[in-house]
Amino acid sequence: MQQKTILGHPKGLFILFFTELWERFSYYGMRAILVLYLTAETTDKLNPGLGWSSTEALALYGWYGMMVYFMGIFGGAIADKWLGQKKSVIFGGILIIIGQFSLAVNNMAMFYTGLVFLICGVGLLKPNISTMVGGLYKKGDAKRDSGFTIFYIGINIGAVLAPLIVGYFGEKIDWHLGFSLAGFGMIIGQVVYVFGGKYLTGVGNLLKHSKEHAHLMKQPLTKIEKDRMTVMFISFLIVMVFWAAYEQAGGLMNLYARDKIDRFVFGFEIPTSFFQSLHALYVVILGAPMAYFWVQWRKKGKESSSIFKMGIASIIMSFGFVALMGAAYDVSINVLGKAPVYWLFLSYFLHVVAELSISPVALSFITKLAPLKYASLMMGTYFAVTGLGNKLAGLLGEAAQDAGEMAIFTGIAVFTFLLGLLIMLFVKKLKALTHGAEDVDPTVAFVEPE
Ligand code: PHE
Repeated sequence: MQQKTILGHPKGLFILFFTELWERFSYYGMRAILVLYLTAETTDKLNPGLGWSSTEALALYGWYGMMVYFMGIFGGAIADKWLGQKKSVIFGGILIIIGQFSLAVNNMAMFYTGLVFLICGVGLLKPNISTMVGGLYKKGDAKRDSGFTIFYIGINIGAVLAPLIVGYFGEKIDWHLGFSLAGFGMIIGQVVYVFGGKYLTGVGNLLKHSKEHAHLMKQPLTKIEKDRMTVMFISFLIVMVFWAAYEQAGGLMNLYARDKIDRFVFGFEIPTSFFQSLHALYVVILGAPMAYFWVQWRKKGKESSSIFKMGIASIIMSFGFVALMGAAYDVSINVLGKAPVYWLFLSYFLHVVAELSISPVALSFITKLAPLKYASLMMGTYFAVTGLGNKLAGLLGEAAQDAGEMAIFTGIAVFTFLLGLLIMLFVKKLKALTHGAEDVDPTVAFVEPE
């Protein structure tokens, strides 16, 4: 079958790219104003909020952040059993739109209803659209990994834009307008997805319909499949540690940037919230060069398995925290108790180099390894694990309030370094468990330029 391509990738990738860009716009836009809306005074004349305390607001925020990703397990299971991924994404998108517009109504019952819709919607959409990306590539296609990086860049374009647009209109004009804009974002995503459906014909369909497949579904897992499940679960643990370190950015690092970093550059003070977009901005900038780097690396015949990249990611993450130790040291010797801002730029840079070596890689890895009948469920489980990593990040941040930042930064640096080293030591053994799932087959080219 002749396929139309863009940048050597199937057109369907770009449909998923834009759908997920707008879904993330919606998600991160809402998230950017949620806590602000909850804590804004009810008596504010121009833009009244709900008047909650910070503790209450952060508790809801943490709970929501965990639930959206936890729901991925159900989202994945529903796709595998009943809907297939393609329809799950549509239903997820509809739930998200309803959710955002419920938040836009100024009413408490609608507010909570909206949150429930969002949790179910993201749980249904996010893991399944990710699995669909993998479905665009045949087994052995070398393009799969770079396809996921492109997809990941889309995610982050949404994440950069959202706080700027939804944040601005929500905070400065009306919270409910902000939530509506988040809803409109998802409508755009949904329109792209539905109209681009013709490029996704062979992807994300429920496999159960064929008799042959029904037979397949009933078979117990083979030894190879079990090994692959094992290595996948090990990779989940690595990824959980990674997110627990990385997600310090939203909590502990946010406060650190506000209180302990001298943010003046050429007489201009960088607002603290800017650093919340910095990760995503770095991903957009570094995504393509990083993907290129790994392709070249593999072409030279060097070790480039996903497990290896995850090990490298853990070590680079550790360097990112060494940079933060540098900041903490400067804080301790500076009379004003402040550190120069370059530490933060350097540290976030390293975090993102690490992120690009682990996060799109993990998504791609799952689509290579998961047994077909559990494809979506495994992806959903991955998102649930991410949710746990986020929760862990919060706990570490809390611990830093007593232990002090230097102790927490050092602890994370040492832990991630040792973990990375351990992975490197066992990379061959772990790779053996994949039973060649990552082997590139040069004869496989899913897409042929016209
Ligand atoms: N920026 C990523 C995204 O929104 C963060 C993330 C990674 C979230 C993995 C969940 C799981 O997709």
